[in-house]
Amino acid sequence: MKVTVVGAGAVGASCAEYIAIKDFASEVVVLDIKEGYAEGKAMDLMQTASLNGFDTKIVGTTGDYSKTANSDVCVITSGIPRKPGMTREELIGINAGIVKSVSSSLIEQSPNTIIIVVSNPMDTMAYLVHKTTDLPRNRIIGMGGALDSARFKYRLAEALGAPISDVDGMVVGGHSDKGMIPLTRMATRNSVPVTEFLSEERLEKVAADTKVGGATLTGLLGTSAWYAPGAAVSGMVQAIACDSQKMFPVSTLLEGEYDLTDISIGVPVILGRKGIEKIVEIDLTNAEKAKMRESAEAVKKTNGLLEL
Ligand code: LAC
Repeated sequence: MKVTVVGAGAVGASCAEYIAIKDFASEVVVLDIKEGYAEGKAMDLMQTASLNGFDTKIVGTTGDYSKTANSDVCVITSGIPRKPGMTREELIGINAGIVKSVSSSLIEQSPNTIIIVVSNPMDTMAYLVHKTTDLPRNRIIGMGGALDSARFKYRLAEALGAPISDVDGMVVGGHSDKGMIPLTRMATRNSVPVTEFLSEERLEKVAADTKVGGATLTGLLGTSAWYAPGAAVSGMVQAIACDSQKMFPVSTLLEGEYDLTDISIGVPVILGRKGIEKIVEIDLTNAEKAKMRESAEAVKKTNGLLEL
């Protein structure tokens, strides 16, 4: 399995690091436009191989797409990250141009690749890749829900005073502060609904803290987070590489599922060697359906800013 990560910034480097540490890929190519930067990150990471015990080869390149040829999975992290006080949507102008040209250069070298979009505003960037390439929808995957769900589980564990491994939960909807939908009704502690342990008020706080998970970190760090985004991507790439048929919420193009069309937004899917093997339609309550519609309207509004 060959994986390319475009962007050697904090998120891209963290993706490459976690993919390498999990040791399921033969090669990870890291590409950046900043002279020598990806080569430096790749060399530094390769020098952790004997310490961390992995055999994945990590190669860095300054803009040479030929090095990415025949990648099975390409991850796009390039573009500008948000600064404190910014929404993900405000990044659209610069990032749309970058994502469009990066995806077309990647596909030229790897026509059979699966693309994972991380750049923000992510749902709109994934939609842009759908609109500007001819990849089938199972091969364009937006990373948002896997990260948001990890943040949800962190907040649930905090509220429950429980270890995170005891907790399960999922976030669907758009990857934005307002658009995320933490499915508190379905969250569990070791199969017992969390509603058995937490008041409605406490669960509302868990959901609110989850939704601003990225913004909270941006405020603390001065830029966008990277460890959890990198770990979320690596989990998705691993599920594809190992054909594990694992369920993740991801941004995918909907064609009638969840009563939505012509939009890429977060819903549960099964990931395997073909990318998105199946979109899983779960029964939402009327209140959850209303939140999904509202979230979709906001994503469509951002999509409307694209110059297609
Ligand atoms: C975040 C970015 C990756 O939520 O969107 O941290």
